[in-house]
Amino acid sequence: MSEFAGARVLVTGGSGFIGRRLVATLLAEGAEVVVADLNAHPDPEVRSVVGDLRDPGVRGEAVSAGLDGVVHLAAVTSVLRSVEDPAGTYEVNVAATAGLLELAREREVPRFTLASTNAVTGDVGSAPITEWQALRPLTPYGATKAAGEMLLSAYSGVYGMQACALRFANVYGQGMGHKDSFVPRLMRAAAEGAGVQVYGDGTQLRDYVHVDDIVQAVQVAWRTGHNGPLVVGSGRSVSVNELIEAAREVTGAPIPVEHVAAKQGEMPAVVLDTSLAKTLGYEPRHDLTTGLPTVWPDFAPGGVEGQA
Ligand SMILES: NC(=O)c1ccc[n+]([C@@H]2O[C@H](COP(=O)([O-])OP(=O)(O)OC[C@H]3O[C@@H](n4cnc5c(N)ncnc54)[C@H](O)[C@@H]3O)[C@@H](O)[C@H]2O)c1
Repeated sequence: MSEFAGARVLVTGGSGFIGRRLVATLLAEGAEVVVADLNAHPDPEVRSVVGDLRDPGVRGEAVSAGLDGVVHLAAVTSVLRSVEDPAGTYEVNVAATAGLLELAREREVPRFTLASTNAVTGDVGSAPITEWQALRPLTPYGATKAAGEMLLSAYSGVYGMQACALRFANVYGQGMGHKDSFVPRLMRAAAEGAGVQVYGDGTQLRDYVHVDDIVQAVQVAWRTGHNGPLVVGSGRSVSVNELIEAAREVTGAPIPVEHVAAKQGEMPAVVLDTSLAKTLGYEPRHDLTTGLPTVWPDFAPGGVEGQA
């Protein structure tokens, strides 16, 4: 039987890209799910607390006594937006997280899982990123996630909360029509017969992880009771050029590329060491060959986005 059968779980950001996929899995496994988000969950059967988690009243309604755990996904997720509005990003990603943790403590919620990012470590050269490197985030987004991780560490250390920060790689998969990361940009370009801009020569390495493997990592964190950070990725980095080639194969579109000057702070390589997650039972099931075809239908002419 699934560890989620009968469990009461609050998923903040449950109406977003990763959240919708997670909520569907939790429901299928017999969990009782409450979503807290700016937008109601598209399935009216799912109980939604609709509002801004910066508002203590919204947090108070969301974190009810009797919950078995919180999966905290709601955030300012755009690095660019965090650069434009660092103070606003702090309010959502740090202050609201602190408020949720405090309510979880007061209401004796035993588990708290935070969606963090591998960007908390900043530039480590071409060394594989592990859980144990110093945190040197290079953007307000990375800094606010690092701050969230520190808060979790304290609530675990002092109050015995099972608190895990999952450091996601670049996530892709079905349901990302509203996102502006590189995979949806490629899909949009393919659908529109357009091209994409690539910073530098495209040889920079990145780890692209499928949303279903992210959902699996949340399950692993819950099942094992892991405390602290956990690096979550596909475990295999590919170059941006390889990703573009894979997108061309899946979409059948030429997707021409314009190389532009690399942005300052553009990292030459992101290589993830996922061995700790693997010792806990995490086994990514997707690579780009199986994963990218799940993204294209949302963008393909006549597909879900095309019909909107
Ligand atoms: N997608 C990725 O590649 C990736 C990588 C690393 C980490 N993450 C983290 O994973 C989490 C989920 O990301 P996603 O890609 O599903 O993003 P998303 O933007 O699709 O979903 C985020 C959800 O949070 C909600 N939200 C934002 N601010 C809120 C607020 N103040 N109050 C209530 N709800 C609010 C939004 O309405 C949205 O539904 C985020 O914490 C993000 O930082 C994502």
